[in-house]
Parts: sequence; structure tokens; C-alpha cells
Amino acid sequence: MKTANATTTNSQFPRTIDLLFINCHLATMVKGAYTIIKDAALGITGKKISWTGEQTNLPDNPEKLATQVIDCRNKWILPGFVDCHTHLVWAGSRSEEFEMRLNGARYEEIAQQGGGIASTVRATRAATKEDLFSQASKRMDTLLKQGITCVEIKSGYGLDLETELKMLSVIDQLNQAFPQQIEPTFLGAHALPKEFKDRSDAYVDLVTQTMLPRVKDQKIASAVDVFCEGIAFSKSQTRKIFKAATDMGFRVKLHAEQLSDMDGAALAAEFNALSCDHLEYLSSPGAQKMAEQDVAAVLLPGAFYFLKETKKPPIHLLRKLGIPMAISTDLNPGSSPIHSMTLILNMACLLFDLTCEEALAGATINGAKALGLEQTKGTLEVGKDADLVLWDINTPADLCYLIGTTPIEMVVISGKVQYTNP
Ligand code: NIG
Ligand code: FE
Repeated sequence: MKTANATTTNSQFPRTIDLLFINCHLATMVKGAYTIIKDAALGITGKKISWTGEQTNLPDNPEKLATQVIDCRNKWILPGFVDCHTHLVWAGSRSEEFEMRLNGARYEEIAQQGGGIASTVRATRAATKEDLFSQASKRMDTLLKQGITCVEIKSGYGLDLETELKMLSVIDQLNQAFPQQIEPTFLGAHALPKEFKDRSDAYVDLVTQTMLPRVKDQKIASAVDVFCEGIAFSKSQTRKIFKAATDMGFRVKLHAEQLSDMDGAALAAEFNALSCDHLEYLSSPGAQKMAEQDVAAVLLPGAFYFLKETKKPPIHLLRKLGIPMAISTDLNPGSSPIHSMTLILNMACLLFDLTCEEALAGATINGAKALGLEQTKGTLEVGKDADLVLWDINTPADLCYLIGTTPIEMVVISGKVQYTNP
């Protein structure tokens, strides 16, 4: 484990501190390593972290330094989790399909027979905004209690203009109603809606010519995603959507090489994508291009587990090329109904062979990087957003090791305590 160094202890003391945590240990996750400060204190001024360091370096008695002091009794503070890939807004349930799969049906087969994403699309189209908001609110609340302080949410269960906008507007409402920062992503090209059967190019035209301009006008998405896959959109269709999106000023990201190698990663790199996600079938040239363009890899062990996949993403290659590896819940009703980042940490270690340190970097700084938020989120550093979690653990690796419990004490977002475990 790496321990504190001078760069994590800022010598200049802030003029005011609103909230000061004392008697804690920090895993700051600076540079994607634990970068631990033992016997530490952490100060927050307004919405930002204003001091980190060894407690003995505090210039005065804590009570004299801050408006509020929290004694952490030797517990650990880590950056809040950044969940960089979710489909958190949906209606209906896919538990019947889960049972079908247990009886031998495959995910692709269910999709081809009008189930899968299409079944969630039917339910989401039929749902009112209020219903969608209320169901998604429960999920947001669960994520908060799991230490997730920033979450990306995709549209993509509408697949028509009206429902895609409805989903993005619900995501916007959630952003107002919940303390977590939400990054909204437009995923109009998630699947081919049944009314465009055998006319996928026409649907791509609808996405590029009608949906994207409306999404742009309404300023309700910060990125554009596509599912590039045999059961979804081809590489050339993805290229068309990326071209239209980047021409309008959107950053792009891609569901790439999840079920087969579509050479999507190379395409994403060509468009300077924020991230390529899934990547089980990533090729060596694809990975090389990602590395050249500094595209983050988002690993989704929950979907791999839930779909009982056997082909793992090429972790050695990603590591060798120095590609930042993020991990995420991929919370969605079909392939990853998983609301727990600590479970995902464990899966990242045991299914994808990440070290605990890599997994924790994946859920914090590299998750932030996959959203283009690495300047403001993902580490405990002065000047960054005060999004952090106090954990009742003995070592950061406990977060990857313990299963079925969330040893959380407190969640702070933008400098405010948003949840305390009763
Ligand atoms: O990330 N791969 C495509 N999208 C989702 C699955 C969505 C669904 O099955 O509803 C995913 O795994
Ligand atoms: Fe996804």
C-alpha cells in the first residue's frame, strides 16, 4: 500500500472550514492508487475539499478550526463512488426473462423474439412520467445508501422521440430532486424499435435528424451512446450517429464488443470517445486505438455475471497499454439488475481479476474519467468536489472483500451530509 506523501498534505491552511473530519484514515485514490493518509483529517469549505493531511499537521485544536467537527473514530474515508454506466430509468420487470434464461433461452434469442430491451421499451412507453420518476427515485435512493455520489443515466428504453425525451426529462427531474450529480446520456440507438423492423437505416436517420437536434435544443444530455452489436446497430450506422453527435458538439461513448467483436472500439477512438463499455470481445488493435486516444474502458462485471458470459475482457492488455479501467453497476432490468457498487467491486476482482486497488480506482477516479469529470471528482484532493463516504472498515480492500453488507457510516455530497447509516 502506498502511504502519504507531501503532495497530499497541503501546507496552506484554508481561512474557514465548515466541516472537519478528524481521527480518520484516507484512501485518497490520487493517481488511481490508494495513496493513503493514516491518522488524518479532512476539511470541507462550501462544496469543496479544502484540506487533507495528517491530523498532527492541523495548526490548532480542531474545535477552533471548523464550524462542525466529526470524530471518525479511526474509520476510513474514500471518494464517493462514481457509477459511470447505468440505465436507471425504466418501467416493468424482466424477471420472467430471467426465468426463461434459467430454462435455457439465450439473451440474444429473447431479444430476437421481441423480448429483452423491446419489452422494457413497451413498459417504458406506457408509463407516465410520474411512474417513471417514482420507480427511478427508489433506485437513486438505494444508490445513495451504497455510497454512489455521482451517476450516469442513459435514455434508450423509449426508441421514439416522445419517450426518449420523456426519459431524459425524468433524468433531469431526478437530478433536481437528488443530491447525487447525474450525467445524462442520450442512447436513442439502443435497439431497433419494432415499428422500424427491417428498416434500421431509417431509424438511424430518425435518431440523427430528428432526435439528436431536439435533445441538443433542450440541453438535456451531456453525451451520446450507441449499442454497436449484432442485435443492435452496425459499425457504419454507429459512425453515422457519432458523426451527427460530434458535429453537434456532444461527446460520445459506446457499448462496444459486449457480445461480439464489431470493431467498435476503434471507431469510438476515432471520435475521441469518453469511454468504451463492456469490451469482452475487444481486439488488440481496438485496444491500441483506445490507448492512443486516451479512451477509458468501462468494465461491467455485473452484466457478464448476470448473462453467464464466459469471455472476459482482456484485462492484461488494458493494463499493459495503461488504459484507465472504470467499473460500474450497469444498473438495468435486463442484463444487470444490480444496485450495489460493493458487489461490483467484488465481481471486478473475482471475475475480471482486478486488484482491489484497481477496482476501487475503477469505481472512483476512473469512473470520473469515463465521464470527463476527473478534474472535479473521484479523489480526495484539495479543490475537488466534497463527495465522500465514511466507511466502517479496517482497510480499503474490505470494500471488495465483504459481500452482502454495506459498512457505510455517512455519505457527503457537495459538502453536505446526505445520508447517515442509522
Ligand atoms: O448495458 N447492452 C446493452 N444495454 C444494456 C442492457 C439493457 C437491457 O437488456 O435492458 C447493457 O447491458
Ligand atoms: Fe449498458
